[in-house]
Amino acid sequence: MKNLDWNNLGFAYVKTDFRYVAHCKDGQWQQGKLTEDNQLTISESASSLHYGQQCFEGLKAYRCKDGSINLFRPEENAKRLQKSCERLLIPAVPVDLFVDACKQVVKANQEWLGPYGSGATLYLRPFVIGVGDNLGLNPATEYIFSVFCCPVGAYFKGGLKPTNFLISDYDRAAPQGTGAAKVGGNYAASLLPAKLAKQRQFADCIYLDPATHTKIEEVGAANFFAITHDNCFVTPASPSILPSITKYSLLYLAEHRLGLKAVEGDVFIDKLDTFKEAGACGTAAVITPIGGIQYKDDFHVFFSETEVGPITQKLYNELVGIQFGDVPAPENWIVKV
Ligand SMILES: Cc1ncc(COP(=O)(O)O)c(C=O)c1O
Repeated sequence: MKNLDWNNLGFAYVKTDFRYVAHCKDGQWQQGKLTEDNQLTISESASSLHYGQQCFEGLKAYRCKDGSINLFRPEENAKRLQKSCERLLIPAVPVDLFVDACKQVVKANQEWLGPYGSGATLYLRPFVIGVGDNLGLNPATEYIFSVFCCPVGAYFKGGLKPTNFLISDYDRAAPQGTGAAKVGGNYAASLLPAKLAKQRQFADCIYLDPATHTKIEEVGAANFFAITHDNCFVTPASPSILPSITKYSLLYLAEHRLGLKAVEGDVFIDKLDTFKEAGACGTAAVITPIGGIQYKDDFHVFFSETEVGPITQKLYNELVGIQFGDVPAPENWIVKV
C-alpha cells in the first residue's frame, strides 16, 4: 500500500500508476489497454474541445474488512454513460467493456486504495471524448474511452456534519436539455453559481427546476432527498436531474431496509417545513446532511445545523455498510474486483 495520509485525503487529482484507454473508429469500440501515460494527445479540432461532445462517470472502489475490493453498482454507471452517449450521438460504450475497464484499473492501482476503516476510497473517473479532425458542428468519427482513478476522502469536509446550501438564481440545465446526462457542459455551467455560493460561506448551491423555479432539483453535483414529518423519504423527480445511482439506492434502502415510504416527487421550495431532515447524496458526497437552506432572505434549518438526523444517519450506515461489505447487499449491487 502507498504511504498516504489515508484518514485525511481530500478530493483532488493524484496521478496513480495505470489508466485504461480504448478507441472507437467508425462506430466500433475496440478493446483497450492499461497505460502509465496520463497525457492524451488529440487533434486541436476535436469535437470534445469545441462542441462539448464528451461525457463521464464517477464511481468508487471500497476496501473491505477481509482486504477484498468492492465496486458499487458499476453496471448502473455503465448504463448511465450509455444514455449520456446517446444524448450526444457518441457510440455507446458496451457495458461489459466499461465494467472490465473499471476492474482492470482498480486491480492495477490497488496500492492506491487505503485500508478498511480509514474512510479512503478509490474514485474512478470513466470518460468519453470526441477526438479526430472535425471543424463543422458534427459528431466526431473517432472517440476515446478512458478510466483513471484517484484515492479520495470525504467530498464535503466534515463527514456527516450538516452543511448549508444557497438556492441559486442560475440554472445548471435547460428543461429539455442535457441535465439528465453526465456531460461536461452542465458542470461548466455550474462553476460560477458554485463560486458565488462559496463566496457567501455556503458549501455549494441548490438548483431549482429550470422551467418554473419553484421546485428543488439538484444540490451542486449531488441529488437532494428529505424526510417528511410522517417518515416518507422524498427525492425530486424531473427530466433535468442527473439520475443518481446513490439516490435510487437510497429509495430502495429507505423502503426495504428502513420501512419508510419512499417516493420521487415534487419538492416545492416554499414547503420546506414539511421535512424534518434533508440531505445531499451522490458517489462523491455519499450522504451529506443539509443543515439549512438559504432562499432569498430566508434561512430554513431542517433537523439541526450541527447534528445529523436519526434517519439520515441510518440511511448512511446502511449505504456505507453495503459499500464496504459490512452489511448484506441487495442482489447485484456489489461487484468484486
Ligand atoms: C449533477 C449530479 N447530480 C447527482 C450526482 C450523484 O450521482 P451518483 O449518485 O450516481 O454519483 C452527481 C454525481 O455523479 C452529479 O454530478
